[in-house]
Amino acid sequence: MRVSRLRLKNWRNFRTVDVALLDRAFIVGPNASGKSNLLDVFKFLRDIAKPGGGLQTAVRDRGGASKIRCLGARQAPEIVIDVELSNESDKPIWRYEIAVKQEVRGRRQPYLLYEKVWNDSKLIIERPEKADGLDSLRLTQTYLEQINSNSQFREIADFFADVTYLHLVPQFLRHPAAYTGPGVPGDPFGRSFLERVAKTPERTRRSRLRKIEAALQIAVPQLKALIDTVDETGVPHLEATYEHWRAHGAKQREDQFSDGTLRLIGLLWSLLDGESLLLLEEPELSLNGEIVQRIPNLMHKIQQKRPRQLLVSTHSGDLLLDPGIAPEEVVCLTPDKDGTNALVAADVPGVVDMVGAGMSVGEAVLPRAAPKQLDLMVNRV
Ligand SMILES: Nc1ncnc2c1ncn2[C@@H]1O[C@H](COP(=O)(O)OP(=O)(O)OP(=O)(O)O)[C@@H](O)[C@H]1O
Ligand SMILES: [Mg+2]
Repeated sequence: MRVSRLRLKNWRNFRTVDVALLDRAFIVGPNASGKSNLLDVFKFLRDIAKPGGGLQTAVRDRGGASKIRCLGARQAPEIVIDVELSNESDKPIWRYEIAVKQEVRGRRQPYLLYEKVWNDSKLIIERPEKADGLDSLRLTQTYLEQINSNSQFREIADFFADVTYLHLVPQFLRHPAAYTGPGVPGDPFGRSFLERVAKTPERTRRSRLRKIEAALQIAVPQLKALIDTVDETGVPHLEATYEHWRAHGAKQREDQFSDGTLRLIGLLWSLLDGESLLLLEEPELSLNGEIVQRIPNLMHKIQQKRPRQLLVSTHSGDLLLDPGIAPEEVVCLTPDKDGTNALVAADVPGVVDMVGAGMSVGEAVLPRAAPKQLDLMVNRV
């Protein structure tokens, strides 16, 4: 199952959004145009649907509804999230929509203005219901987060609860002990990445690491072997053998790996791990341009084996050079004084013609994403 359409109102820097999404979607736009904010919609739905989650914590973790609601919104309207979910065919099987407001007095809790669920175009849940009218506290929780109430649409709850996000920060992985504190839910930055690898059932772990090792043997000069290991205190590590320095190779642990090696390991592991919607934040970071050019094909190959949706934020012209990327797979964000506009590249005037004439989607859309007069920026410093 995949998200086939996303509609938003007043979500962060977006006043309105209405975009169709395919199995693979690349989100492009200048800095601060809202790429991460767009991915955050799906993390927000995950944070509502996951065990122990819920609307209240999902909003609180983001600093409250007033931080989420678009600053450009007039008065204090609701935040609306509306998603359609489809199988292989484009016909949506599910639609889930919520509108969230914040109490103007008292505890200023977020509450639902409405929550609606459709199955095969038939409206099966429509809140507020009669019981919500009798007890308004009920509207501080979604049905999505309640197993007693989501049995009719458990498939949606499971889909969102499984959403994964990766933005691996090599320093966190190398020196997890240096970053104390409770950690971020879902470990988006990879601080516990090695623990997750270690907890994976042995056969799966070995098979994935073997594939990653084979890929690294090509991508990382002199790397010959990659294994997982545990030190004397029981802490899991990754260990690589490099064929330089010594005749029989020198072993190094992850704290010696390069940023790009760690990012590539994290990217490959997460692509191979699970079948849920995967959100990837700028997968090109720290990687050689030639490797970056292969990332879309790598995603495509993995999706052939196990269908899963991949939503990717990127700034990379290298990544978007792949001729296999269709204009329908790219979402272009353009900041405007009223909020950012989101448009699928196929709907941006001229892009389909440029791609038809032999340009890559990146060449067609990235120049539009660049702020104007950047030379002035240089002169101003
Ligand atoms: N409630 C809000 N209303 C309006 N703008 C908001 C709101 N919340 C966040 N923003 C703005 O969103 C922008 C950040 O967006 P985001 O981090 O998604 O950008 P990005 O495209 O991922 O950028 P980068 O490429 O630098 O990672 C900031 O400029 C911030 O001011
Ligand atoms: Mg970002």
